[in-house]
Amino acid sequence: MNMHSSEAATAEEAIAAQEALPPLTNEEATKVAMSNTLLTPRFYTTDFDEMDAIDVTPVRSDWDKLIAAMKADPNKGHFKKNEDWDKVDWDGMEPALKAEFIDFLISSCTAEFSGCVLYKEMKRRGSNEDITTLFQLMARDEARHAGFINDALREAGIAVNLGFLTQAKKYTYFRPKFIYYATYLSEKIGYARYITIYRHLEQHPEHRFHPIFKWFREWCNDEFSHGEAFALLLKTDPQLTESRVNKLWIKFFLTAVFSTMWVRDHQRPEFHKALGVDPAWYGQEVFRKTSDISRQVFPMVLDIEHPRWIPTLNRMQAANVQIADGRKQGGVGGWVKRMAGSAKAGFAFVSLLTIPVEKSAVPESPRMEPAY
Ligand SMILES: [Fe+2]
Ligand SMILES: [Fe+2]
Repeated sequence: MNMHSSEAATAEEAIAAQEALPPLTNEEATKVAMSNTLLTPRFYTTDFDEMDAIDVTPVRSDWDKLIAAMKADPNKGHFKKNEDWDKVDWDGMEPALKAEFIDFLISSCTAEFSGCVLYKEMKRRGSNEDITTLFQLMARDEARHAGFINDALREAGIAVNLGFLTQAKKYTYFRPKFIYYATYLSEKIGYARYITIYRHLEQHPEHRFHPIFKWFREWCNDEFSHGEAFALLLKTDPQLTESRVNKLWIKFFLTAVFSTMWVRDHQRPEFHKALGVDPAWYGQEVFRKTSDISRQVFPMVLDIEHPRWIPTLNRMQAANVQIADGRKQGGVGGWVKRMAGSAKAGFAFVSLLTIPVEKSAVPESPRMEPAY
């Protein structure tokens, strides 16, 4: 009898549990997971030796508390269907909603698994016990998350082939400091996204069109602690958040992560309609929470109330629609459309970068509790 991925103590066990399930071949799903565009989740690799050399002494007491909390594993067994998992009527679902929701699940599964692959590799390559312990724990969580989404997809006759993805998906190299900024932000924005939907559905249960949303509270707490770990890693070297060049990088990553989310979410109008959520409201709400949290370690927040902020995000969104149209159209005409769209998106991004930031005073200890 095989264990379920939710009970696994390591990422390897969780992946093995998923692989042991009856095979489902859905080339379409794996193709979606394999795609590498600016808007789809990527797999990352980095300089593992440099990461292995991190010394957590400056943040030791916060570090030990966080690791102890993660080792206690409050969510063991949580990411598994139980009696709260209502029957899903896939056949009765509006086709447009079904398509968007499946796309949402596949891209979420890929994003979760992307974290798992990176963390697992760090654990495998490292010899620094503090670092390998942390990465092993985070890989465990992400593998459970990805496994759970795959369980949901299986009911629709689809599964992302995680083993194949590990082997075949292209890896993008990022220097460790870029991994810290990007991953810190994606963990915290992940928390903000999950908790915002969870709280919204608490108020409006009639919009909960799928049971997976009931699992979002514990889920977001995992992401919150992963973000805490990266906040501590960033704290080990003050240069990472205080030097002039790195401040520019932080602004760059904040802008890139926020604008990508905006564009991606606006591609799923039916999904948001079913949830009873306006994507613009949702975006701003998630940015607000993420900004508030990121004050724990970043010396600035983006000015998301600036008069140019939303109009420019919308221009970027329109440019991405044009790029997608061009890709669909193909041929020379499609190519021209795509290039024009890319230029517009590029200009919009640069324009976002010219909006002045709001400086923020960073506290001595970054530790926070999830409060939303
Ligand atoms: Fe996760
Ligand atoms: Fe995470």
